[in-house]
Amino acid sequence: MNKERKRLEDLRSQRWLAPDNTRSFAHRQRLQQMGLRREEFMSRPVIAIVNTWSDLSPCHAHLRERAEAVKRGILQAGGMPFELPAMSLGEVLVKPTTMIYRNFLAMEVEELLRSLPIDGAVLLGGCDKTVPGLLMGALSADLPCIFVPAGPMLNDRYRGEKVGAGTHTRKFWDERQAGHLSGREWIALESHMARTPGTCNTMGTASTMTLIAEAMGFTLPNAASIPAMDAAHTRMASASGARIVEMVWEDLKPSTFFNEKAVANGVAAYMAIGGSTNAAIHLIAIAGRGNVPLTLDDIQRLGAGVPVLANILPSGTSLMEDFYYAGGLPAVLQRIHAGLSLDCMTVNGRTLGDNLEGAQCEDDDVVRPVAQPVSDAGALAVLRGNLAPSGAVIKPSAASEHFLKHSGRALVFDSMADLNARINDPELDVDENTVLVLRNGGPLGAPGMPEWGNLPIPQKLLEKGVRDMVRVSDSRMSGTHYGTCVLHVAPEAAAGGPLALIRTGDIIDLDVAAGRLDVRLTDEELDARRAQWQPAINMPPRGYTKIFLEHVTQANEGCDFDFLKGWHPPVEPSIY
Ligand code: FES
Repeated sequence: MNKERKRLEDLRSQRWLAPDNTRSFAHRQRLQQMGLRREEFMSRPVIAIVNTWSDLSPCHAHLRERAEAVKRGILQAGGMPFELPAMSLGEVLVKPTTMIYRNFLAMEVEELLRSLPIDGAVLLGGCDKTVPGLLMGALSADLPCIFVPAGPMLNDRYRGEKVGAGTHTRKFWDERQAGHLSGREWIALESHMARTPGTCNTMGTASTMTLIAEAMGFTLPNAASIPAMDAAHTRMASASGARIVEMVWEDLKPSTFFNEKAVANGVAAYMAIGGSTNAAIHLIAIAGRGNVPLTLDDIQRLGAGVPVLANILPSGTSLMEDFYYAGGLPAVLQRIHAGLSLDCMTVNGRTLGDNLEGAQCEDDDVVRPVAQPVSDAGALAVLRGNLAPSGAVIKPSAASEHFLKHSGRALVFDSMADLNARINDPELDVDENTVLVLRNGGPLGAPGMPEWGNLPIPQKLLEKGVRDMVRVSDSRMSGTHYGTCVLHVAPEAAAGGPLALIRTGDIIDLDVAAGRLDVRLTDEELDARRAQWQPAINMPPRGYTKIFLEHVTQANEGCDFDFLKGWHPPVEPSIY
């Protein structure tokens, strides 16, 4: 950590504001045009509040108000706040998938911070892709930054049962398909499960990523579990605003505290909370922006032996509000502290170990003791084999134990449209041991790698009581979902991976303990089929999707753009 405090003349914003020339005159003039007095911006750190709020982002509906609390903290600490809108990625409403825009947000954040007279930034977000997008951009910009997680929505109940966003949607849908739930009940459920603003209240991708961000040092202690609608959330926002001003004077930027050990802490937290499979992609991308090379094998190695302690849906039974009452992430980290790098610095200027002092668990059922984990199976397993030479992942803690070693006949769908057209056909040749395969759902194929990987169970099997099957795809799966779903198969089918070559009737072997995913085909047979395979990427003539398709990397590489990967010293704009 840099112990030298900055002087006023060292502030980045002073390059825009201080010189006695016509250009800086115009900068000062335009700030005064907005009603600001000279002394409000000339002698204070200028702080950006990068806000991913929008009217169509329900998980961030409260972030305009939280920005006001952040401003209060900044002003009280002697900074000058400016709120900057950034692309708002509400997971459910954005099509074809928010994943296609994660890198867009990362670029926007980096360029916003680079192009304006900013000394430090408070990052407001929480819905799935906003967390990696904000962190990737901030790591590349490398200005002091602090992350304010949006916080989970409050618990809800339906007929006495705790219901969790995302997780219960699929459960209730399966019951409806099986004829156990009426249309009237289904409509009634629309007003349940998402009871307040805030991110999904299960251990979906949002909570997974906000908790990982906390474990890696980007938030104030215990910030990520505070429910969005709790007054403590507003206080945390204000405290974050106050803290960023000090961070600027301390020059506490990501490159001074984000390193291999911080990433290892993030991976350990990821496993202990039973986090979403999506985090495997995002962590690789975030680490890459911070000069930490990270592979799927590294995640497997760093997470090995870390038990799932957070008893939260979909691996467990509780919800994020319960997690907060139980002590939140500090309670989890306290239980696995022996495996953490406690000397890692965090944004509050103290080490992770300092921040964990006094942390304790208030509910052993919600945050389990190490000797009584939610699952022995682990939150993530990496698979390789002739069907996934570059890797695939599965979440064993949310899968059916009896399917973790399984061989079955493939039933292949070439696209989501193909699947939707056939999956409920009464004549479909399928039983509970069939392996459902979806291809062309990856970064290039879909495009954007949507969350199609939790393939629906055929209705005729639902009616027989089947609730899980082995499913294999090059897509992702919502972190709120569950089931024996092999995901992120790489290379994807559209890139010519072996998934493109298999046919209905081929036998697929899954062995999670052995880390294997294979199809019973010889190399000669695969080569013969490859010789006949034709790529079929539908390249648009223009626009962002064209950039995406030309530059996105595969899932095992984090799906970052090839020209943005890695860490480079930030390039400052010329001011003439
Ligand atoms: Fe926003 Fe789940 S939809 S966090």
